Formats: sequence, C-alpha cells, structure tokens
Amino acid sequence: MILSGRREKELQRVANTCDALRGGRRPIVLPFDLKNIEGLEQIAKDALKVSPTSRIDILVLSGGIATRALVEETSLQIDIDTMKINYFSNIALTKAILPSMLKNRSGHVAVISSAKGRIGMADSSTYCATKHALMGFYDAFRTEVSSRGIKVTSILPGAVNTNVIKNALAGDGKTYGKDDKNNLKGIAPEECARRIVVAIKNEDPEAIIAGAGARFCLAIRGLFPTVCFSILAKKGQREVLQVKGMGAHGAAKVS
Ligand SMILES: NC(=O)c1ccc[n+]([C@@H]2O[C@H](COP(=O)([O-])OP(=O)(O)OC[C@H]3O[C@@H](n4cnc5c(N)ncnc54)[C@H](OP(=O)(O)O)[C@@H]3O)[C@@H](O)[C@H]2O)c1
Repeated sequence: MILSGRREKELQRVANTCDALRGGRRPIVLPFDLKNIEGLEQIAKDALKVSPTSRIDILVLSGGIATRALVEETSLQIDIDTMKINYFSNIALTKAILPSMLKNRSGHVAVISSAKGRIGMADSSTYCATKHALMGFYDAFRTEVSSRGIKVTSILPGAVNTNVIKNALAGDGKTYGKDDKNNLKGIAPEECARRIVVAIKNEDPEAIIAGAGARFCLAIRGLFPTVCFSILAKKGQREVLQVKGMGAHGAAKVS
C-alpha cells in the first residue's frame, strides 16, 4: 500500500496506524503535491518502483480541494488552480499508471468525485466544474478499458464530516476556514471509507454515498431536469442571500 498527500508527518501517522492494523505491513509513504502536474509522471514511476509487486492494483484518486465563493467573486486563477488539483492531476496519474495496467490486463481506478459531480450548486461553481469534468473523463475511460481487464469506479459522496469546507479555497485564493453546518451533519469519514471499499470490492462502476436529499436531487436531475433546476435555483437564491450577509452561510445539502 502506498499513501500520498502533501503532509509527510500526517502520512507517517496514518502509516503507523495501518501498520498496527495490518500486522506489520507498513504502507509506503510517497508525499507529493497534486498541483505539480508536470512532476506526476515521475511520481507514478516512483510508485511503481517502490511497489513490492511492481504493480499498482488499485489506484484511489481522493486528493482534492473544495471551493466556496460565488462566480462573480471567484478569480479565474482559482478555477485554473482547482482544475489542476481536482481534475488534471487525477487524469495525469491515471495516464501514467495506465500502460502498466494495460500490460497486466488488470487494475482498478477508483476516483472520488462528488454528488456535485452531477449537480451544480450555488457557491461552489469551481468545485462542481472540476467534479463534473472527472465524471465525464472516467465515464468515457471506463468504456475504453472495461474490455481490457481494467475496472473504473466513480464515487459520488454527499456530505461527509471532514475538514473539506474548512480547507476550501475562497474566491481570492485564501483558505475559507469556516465549518459548514451541513458538512458537520454529514456521515463519518470512516463510514464513507467503508462504503468506498465495498464499492471497489463489488467492482461497481458508480457508487452514490449520500443521504436521501442528495439522492433525490440526483434522481430527478436525470428524469425531470427542469424540476431539479428549479429546486436548486431556489436553494441557490437563499445561498446567495446568505453569502451576501443576509443570513447564516451554508444551506447546501450536497457536498
Ligand atoms: N467531505 C465531503 O463532504 C466530500 C463530499 C464529496 C466529495 N468529497 C471528496 O473527497 C475527497 C477527500 O476530501 P476530504 O473530505 O477528506 O477533505 P479534506 O479533509 O480536506 O482532505 C483532502 C485530502 O486531499 C489531499 N490534498 C489536498 N490538496 C492536495 C494537493 N495539492 N496535493 C496532494 N494532496 C492534496 C489532502 O492531503 P494533504 O493536505 O496532506 O495534501 C487530504 O488528504 C476530495 O476529493 C473531496 O472533493 C468530499
């Protein structure tokens, strides 16, 4: 197992926990920044080199960042930077690992998108765009590789109680830094992780890990898009008023 992220100390802490749980099979820690797109091919080579089997059996693409800002308050640079972290890094790593998976005619790519990868919501246009891009890419990718031994699972979580909103980028690039009451009410990260493992084990093409509200939105988005857009626009109107200081921020239920 190889663990990645930017914070090496934190990765070592997680590796220690895994070490105890896995009876001494300590994960390898490979820290890197997803924003460094040009360096990711080498990172993938390094991962293949340090892997005891010289293979990556399951590539889980989870690293990402949320955004919290209205469109008019979001600089184009934030759109570009977030697209690099949430989208281009994922496809760069996939393309770099793909030749080895194709050679072995086996492998599994699990991408952590979001319910916002199918639904656009107020105050998070940038994040929604990056997650929609992931859905398009991996839906297409699946059609190309499923007959060649490679599985692709797209995960669409709703609200999960992590630091994702606290860590989000505001429109000026600063860290948003505030909690979101709907994320605080989200499912525990451990429960989300457990359901992701089940989806990967079952080789599900897609897994929606969300509450009834988000599932309802996703269902009517396909069947009755006009109704869906009208509900989301009303929700968005409330959100805009709140962002503009006329109420508490954070009415959205889908993360
Ligand atoms: N929480 C939710 O409600 C929710 C809902 C739907 C989808 N998701 C998705 O789930 C995934 C995990 O998010 P989370 O909820 O666990 O949020 P989080 O607590 O903010 O964690 C984000 C993760 O991404 C890594 N990361 C962020 N920027 C990175 C970069 N530039 N380079 C390398 N790694 C980076 C972080 O590690 P380092 O800080 O060490 O780099 C951390 O492991 C994300 O893709 C998110 O969009 C979350």
